[in-house]
Amino acid sequence: MTYHFSKQYVQSFIDKEEFRRQSNKVLHGHPSPAHWKPLQEPIDFLLDERSGYAMRSEFEVNLYVGTPFCIKTKPARCGFCLFPSEDYEGNKGVERYIAYLKKEFEMYKPFYGSDTLASIYFGGGTPNLYRPEHYGQIMEYVDTLYGGVPADIEKTLEGIPQLFNEAKLRAISEAGFNRVSMGVQQLNDNLIKYSGRKQTRKQVFDAVDLCHKYNLANSMDLIYGWPEQTMDNMLQDLKDAIAAGVHHLTHYELNVAGRSDFASPKKRALLPTIETNIEMYRMANEYLHSEGFEQVTVYDWSRKANSDDDVRKASYDYEHSMHDFVDQENGEIQKTRQVCGIGYSAVNFHPNGLDSDDRSWIYMNQTSLKDYCQDIDDGKFPIGRGFMYNHQDVKLAWLFQSMQTMSINHSNYENIFHEDLLAAYAEVWNELARRQWIKITDESIEFIDKGQYYIPMLQSLIASVRLEEIRSVKKLTVSDIPVRIEATA
Ligand SMILES: C[S@@+](CC[C@H](N)C(=O)[O-])C[C@H]1O[C@@H](n2cnc3c(N)ncnc32)[C@H](O)[C@@H]1O
Ligand code: SF4
Repeated sequence: MTYHFSKQYVQSFIDKEEFRRQSNKVLHGHPSPAHWKPLQEPIDFLLDERSGYAMRSEFEVNLYVGTPFCIKTKPARCGFCLFPSEDYEGNKGVERYIAYLKKEFEMYKPFYGSDTLASIYFGGGTPNLYRPEHYGQIMEYVDTLYGGVPADIEKTLEGIPQLFNEAKLRAISEAGFNRVSMGVQQLNDNLIKYSGRKQTRKQVFDAVDLCHKYNLANSMDLIYGWPEQTMDNMLQDLKDAIAAGVHHLTHYELNVAGRSDFASPKKRALLPTIETNIEMYRMANEYLHSEGFEQVTVYDWSRKANSDDDVRKASYDYEHSMHDFVDQENGEIQKTRQVCGIGYSAVNFHPNGLDSDDRSWIYMNQTSLKDYCQDIDDGKFPIGRGFMYNHQDVKLAWLFQSMQTMSINHSNYENIFHEDLLAAYAEVWNELARRQWIKITDESIEFIDKGQYYIPMLQSLIASVRLEEIRSVKKLTVSDIPVRIEATA
């Protein structure tokens, strides 16, 4: 079933939202975790089911390993961060957590043991809080679970600049990592102070130099729309990051939401206006294009490659799995991508099948360290909440991911879901074309100019009716589960 939107509904939705700050700017999928519910079933049931699907079609696995800890800041959580984390209280807590992580890896052996890994991402929180000896130790858990880690896949470790010293980067490289993703946010020493981080631009460039020394591909996260940031500050940061030789840039718009310090009235008063943010988006795009960077999603930019080594370093397979879970060639579906998550607040995304009676799942581990450890002590998978996709949700999840890339291939959509996308959302496309936010070609819908900037709002628009329905469901129980497929040889 598809929802048809009237012209009036589309126009009034956009008119209302256009001048509001959107709060879904970073890594937004359908539906957001706010709509997930506690799962009532033992997770082994769903994992068994996944094995059944695995025998029907090919998939590859992108593994995420979560870290809870962050250095305390004032204001808390760097002032802006909306991701779950727990205060770092010393190495004892880290070692205790790693022991739990090992147990969780072992619990997955019967279910994930025969999967093939396509990429590995250690994220958080702040994984570079660990001591040098911990990186190899955790990588060994991965190796044991999957019966080996392929040498040539991407293995990323995320962290903050001031914690990347030489001993750590050597250990990270020796543990098999080949890519580092650094959350820098601002290179200007005065502006970064709003986050309460004790970070300097010198620390950032020292860390990037060390990444080059250890042949680690380097990705940098920067944020625009920051308190008191000017266009010149933003362009200077991009220029300096490029000059330092980063291979990939993530240029997020500041997401202002929740109880973060940046959402307080005092800080909001310091934020650039929405009009300025739109101008920043435009200027950053123009500048990055002129510097030979290729835009891959609304916020991801890759350095153009001149050699095989550059190609490897500019690629970002783990993040890529977040914006295309179906691989197609000449109209044929080749395989799907799954995300397996282990550790605090890690997410598992199992798009099991693409037919209307197939069941796909997403679920997230506990976002309280206490609950995470308690579940493992009780012999349970430490899962907090999740969501079972119906066929409409799978279509929306695919559309959301495509929109991140600023282009929806409507021929591909038709191949996968046997539905005419242009007809299904006709009034949406009419309104966006009228505003010159999209261009429609024989193959695709291309988001242009302001249409790109407003992608998070347009994702909310196409999901809005379905989200109303989801809000009315309380818990997911066995009775919500219509089909159970059996493994076929
Ligand atoms: C979850 S953090 C983890 C990485 C590391 N701890 C750090 O902060 O650098 C990953 C990235 O999400 C982005 N992020 C977090 N909160 C954000 C927000 N409110 N608005 C925009 N980007 C945000 C930041 O750019 C950050 O580098
Ligand atoms: S931005 Fe990074 S370091 Fe700061 S609280 Fe969030 S995860 Fe932790």
